[in-house]
Parts: sequence; C-alpha cells; structure tokens
Amino acid sequence: MFERPRAGERALLVQVILEGEPDTSEEFAELARSAGAEAVAEIHARRRKPDPRYFVGSGKLEEIRELVVDHAVELVLVDHALSPAQERNIEQALSCRVLDRTGLILDIFAQRARSHEGKLQVELAQLRHLATRLVRGWTHLERQKGGIGQRGPGETQLETDRRLLGDRIKQLERRLEKVDRQRAEGRRGRQRAELPVVSLVGYTNAGKSTLFNALTDAGGFTADQLFATLDATLRKLDLPEGPEAVVADTVGFIRQLPHELVAAFRSTLQETRQSTLLLHVIDAADPEQDERRADVAEVLDEIGADEVPQLEVINKIDLAPAEADRPAIERDDAGRPVRVRVSAATGAGLEALRAALTERLAGDRVHRAFTLGPEQGRLRSRLYEVGVVRSEQVDDDGRFQLDVELPRRELERLGRQEGLETGA
Ligand code: GTP
Repeated sequence: MFERPRAGERALLVQVILEGEPDTSEEFAELARSAGAEAVAEIHARRRKPDPRYFVGSGKLEEIRELVVDHAVELVLVDHALSPAQERNIEQALSCRVLDRTGLILDIFAQRARSHEGKLQVELAQLRHLATRLVRGWTHLERQKGGIGQRGPGETQLETDRRLLGDRIKQLERRLEKVDRQRAEGRRGRQRAELPVVSLVGYTNAGKSTLFNALTDAGGFTADQLFATLDATLRKLDLPEGPEAVVADTVGFIRQLPHELVAAFRSTLQETRQSTLLLHVIDAADPEQDERRADVAEVLDEIGADEVPQLEVINKIDLAPAEADRPAIERDDAGRPVRVRVSAATGAGLEALRAALTERLAGDRVHRAFTLGPEQGRLRSRLYEVGVVRSEQVDDDGRFQLDVELPRRELERLGRQEGLETGA
C-alpha cells in the first residue's frame, strides 16, 4: 500500500518516441503549458517498444528519478498513454505524481469546459479513465487537493469506491442523454427554421475562436493556449448579402485525441457531422500545416463528418507574407470557392470570406416543384414539418403541387428516407 504523491505544477516532461511514431514533443510541451504546468525539465527517450512494467527502461527511469530530485519536480508528465499499472509503477518508483497524455488532456478539458453539457462530458470521460485505474494501493487519497490531473471530479470526491464511481457514471450518462435530447430538439428547431449551420473545425490554435468572433462580431473568450474552446458554441452568422445561418465553434482537434474524450464528445461532434458546411481553419504560419490538415481530416473521418462540404480558411496570413500575396479566394473547376485567405486578427480577407460563404450557402439551397398524390399525405406533412414549403396548390385531380426550397442535403435525406422523388 502506498499513498499517491501529491501533484504540483513543477513538471518534468518525459518524451518517449516509439519506433515508427511521429515526434509529438512540441505539441506535448504546449499541452503541458495549457494545463498550467511549469516545465522545469525535459527528458527524451527512444524505444522500439514500451517496457511492460515502467514504459521506459530501467536506465531511463533512474535518469528521470535524478531529475525529479534535482529539480524538485512535483509532477511527471509522460507523452503517451500509460497502462494503469505502468502509471502506478512509475509513481511508486519515483515517489512523484505521474500523469499520462490522456490524463493531461482530460485535465485541460476539465479546466476549459464552459457549457453544462461540456462539463458533464468531461467529468464522464475523467471518471471512465479513472475507473480503469482504481485498484488496491490507490486508496487514502482524501488528503489530495487540487493540482493538475486532480481537477474535475478529483479522486477525493470519489472515495475510490468502484460502486460509487459506477453510480456516478450512470447518473452522468442519464443526464447527458437528456441534454442530448434537448440538443436534438434545438437541431430540429433550426432545421424547421431552415437555418444552415456552418461549423468551424481545425487543429487547435488555428484561430477558430478568433474567426468565430470576427464573423459574429461579438467579443468572446480566446487565449493563446490549446483548447480555448471546448464545446460547440452557436451564434448567428452575420452575412449581409447571404442567407441567415448559424455558426458553431467546435473543439480544437489534436493528434491522438483520447478515445474516452471522443466518446464523451460524441454528441458535440454530431453537430459537426450534421452541419451544412465546415470551415476548416488552417494556421498559415504553422510549419506543420500539411500534417495538421491531414490530422483534422482523420478526426473528421472518425466522427463521420468527412462527407460534409468544406471551405478551407487559411488564417493568420499576417504572419505568412507569401500567403498574403496569393488570391483571397481560390475556386475549383466548377467555379466554387474552396479556399479563402484571411487574418482573423487584422480582419484582412474577411469580406472575401463572407462572400465565399454566401456563395457556398446559397449554392447549397435548391428549389424544386413536386406533385404529390393524396396517398402521399405523410410525406406532405413531413415537408411542412421541416418548414420547406414555399407554396401549395391543389390541381383538378386532387393532387398537391408543392413549391419547395431546402438545403441540398435535406433534399437528399428526404429522398433516401421518405422516398421523395428528388429529380436530382
Ligand atoms: P482552440 O480553441 O485551442 O482549438 O484554438 P482556436 O483554433 O480557437 O484558436 P484561437 O482563436 O484561440 O487563436 C489562437 C491564437 O492565435 C490566439 O493567440 C489568437 O490571437 C491568434 N490568432 C488567431 N488568428 C490570428 C491571425 O489572423 N493572426 C495572428 N497573428 N494571430 C491570430
């Protein structure tokens, strides 16, 4: 039996790169900073595969121990997902609190969750993560307070009792289900009002929140840290010439988002999947922008949002002079805008972006005339339900002549689900 050492903010970063894996040490250092840790030392290791007991080799572990002592380190952060046993073994060997990559990311999310739903989701993810780590020897934690990795539900409140933990998880799941239903209601409401939804997606720190504020013309919270945004926030999009639309700022994507989080954020991400258009924000000043573009594409694929139309926004052109010299709007062969260059900070290119958005959203709406027989009453009421009917006349044969205007995706969906002859 041992007591888990208290965590503090003086951190040692342990960067382990396994064979065939990319070097994520810079991102990890940024994550640590985001969590409020002060990195007082850093150590790198390369391994072919993880050591089952300590993840790193025994020689490396000894080096780490020396650093912990020399720098009065309070928290060891390991840039990898550790098994519960590995985390415990290292902690025991070092007499220092250890947090793995997943725990660190969960902690950041716990600090940043703003909405009620976001808070519930993070707590659920943290509890699920913790549930795998509740074993003998991790008791007597009541005296621990605060610190990285111990926010949110924290081990103190859990009393490390599996049954209590299970109950809490179930309770959270029930609450989230309720929030989820409410969210679906909201979504249906927006559909009824025919409002297209534009979601901002992109690698973390690309400038989504800044752009969100610039596009919606309202002050909000942005910070030069990862995950300034956690859950989707919705605001009306300000397009003087264009259709009414709603814009959603979403969670910043990063490589290897822990699966606990992806699971917990399923409903938030669902919003992304059901958007009319994704604004994929890319940091023009980021030397790794190609890799990050691919990382985001992978996450979108994972959550089933890879088929939603995209408009790429190359942001921060004030920091990348070469980009600023290129045309503001790039088009594909069909003449549709596919890429816009802006600086959300200086406002350069925002007008072009509004124009491109207006074009893309207008192009997304289609006008159709339908003739429905009396036997198609269900479909007819469905069209009224989603509020897309512009006008209706009954012809001499008692058939309904409907004039309908709706987003293309909605038309396709009605075609699939309701057997509407879309004529597309
Ligand atoms: P996450 O919420 O972590 O996903 O980040 P985000 O994509 O929402 O980025 P955010 O808007 O928080 O911006 C990150 C940093 O980049 C902030 O310091 C912004 O001030 C800065 N930034 C955003 N847009 C621009 C820009 O056009 N030019 C410059 N120079 N900085 C920008």
